[in-house]
Amino acid sequence: MAAVRYELLKVCKQSGARLGRLHTPHGVIDTPAFMPVGTQATVKTMSPEELKQMDAHIILSNTYHLFLRPGHDIVREAGGLHRFMNWDRPILTDSGGFQVFSLSELRKITEEGVAFRNHLNGDKLFISPEIAMEIQNALGSDIMMAFDECPPYPAEYDYVKKSMERTTRWAERCLKAHARPNDQALFAIVQGGMHADLRRESAAQLTSMDFPGYAIGGLSVGESKPLMYEMLECTVPLLPDRKPRYLMGVGSPDALLEGSIRGVDMFDCVLPTRIARNGTVMTSQGRLVVRGAKLARDFGPLDPNCGCYTCTNYSRAYLRHLLKADETFGIRLTTYHNLHFLLDLMRNVRQAIAEDRLLDFRDEFFNRYGMHDN
Ligand code: GUN
Ligand code: ZN
Repeated sequence: MAAVRYELLKVCKQSGARLGRLHTPHGVIDTPAFMPVGTQATVKTMSPEELKQMDAHIILSNTYHLFLRPGHDIVREAGGLHRFMNWDRPILTDSGGFQVFSLSELRKITEEGVAFRNHLNGDKLFISPEIAMEIQNALGSDIMMAFDECPPYPAEYDYVKKSMERTTRWAERCLKAHARPNDQALFAIVQGGMHADLRRESAAQLTSMDFPGYAIGGLSVGESKPLMYEMLECTVPLLPDRKPRYLMGVGSPDALLEGSIRGVDMFDCVLPTRIARNGTVMTSQGRLVVRGAKLARDFGPLDPNCGCYTCTNYSRAYLRHLLKADETFGIRLTTYHNLHFLLDLMRNVRQAIAEDRLLDFRDEFFNRYGMHDN
């Protein structure tokens, strides 16, 4: 038995976007889907009950962080990540292949794996494809990610090529080391930097290995949006249409729309939760800086078109006051709103696909939100 099953419900006649359902051991995910990020086994400031109230179907957590603290042995002893954090819906875990490059110091990449220093205490550590599988098997996520290298941008063609080929060999080792294929699905990650030929080669190599899903990694690393969309356009058509496609680390409203239009089914990003904590919210009219003096006597909701808990009960003036007074309730309320906003956007995307009008929906959304790329 495969751990997950992707059901393709329909393709939008106007845009080519896919409406689907991903069946997992902990429930069904309607796609295209946005996955809130819970790096350290918590979506910062949100309770599982609140995430359910806004109808999040799946969250993401991080192998790298949970390996460093508290350690995957403790999570295993707790009965797995779902029980440890009291979340009984699907969880996807990233492999550490990205965080080890963005967070740790003194890392050394060899064919065997990556040696690095714990960014919390300086200890010497090592993650290989086999260790990344052991950790994720202990966490018990519904979807695990292969251990990959996300090359920096820009990078030399020859380096990106060697890195991509190593990522393919690592994916093969992940497949071999994966101990729970019946209840945890392992997704491969396409790399290849900003080089169309390397992307195509990566996709061809990985699809020949028959993973239950494919991610597109190495994007949103500083390149322009048009270049990112170009890379999607040369990668996605090579992926099997009966399996889910996941664009990693992307969650701005415009990229969720443009990604869906190009056939992506899953997205994750820290953007909504991160900007919420510094007091910025996404609204149907574009981004709003809640600390701004203009809001001091604004007793209306953050977004008049939002039905979330925050917008139903609290004013801009009150939220501005909480944020300026450093009251933690303020960042809980902005976090709730931002996550609700993106989950609502994806509900509207799915509805628009069902009605064959996703391009119209995108244009209407941009007319209200503005064309700025965030
Ligand atoms: N998150 C965002 N981009 C990437 C990537 O390329 N690889 C992994 N493992 N995680 C990511
Ligand atoms: Zn709201």
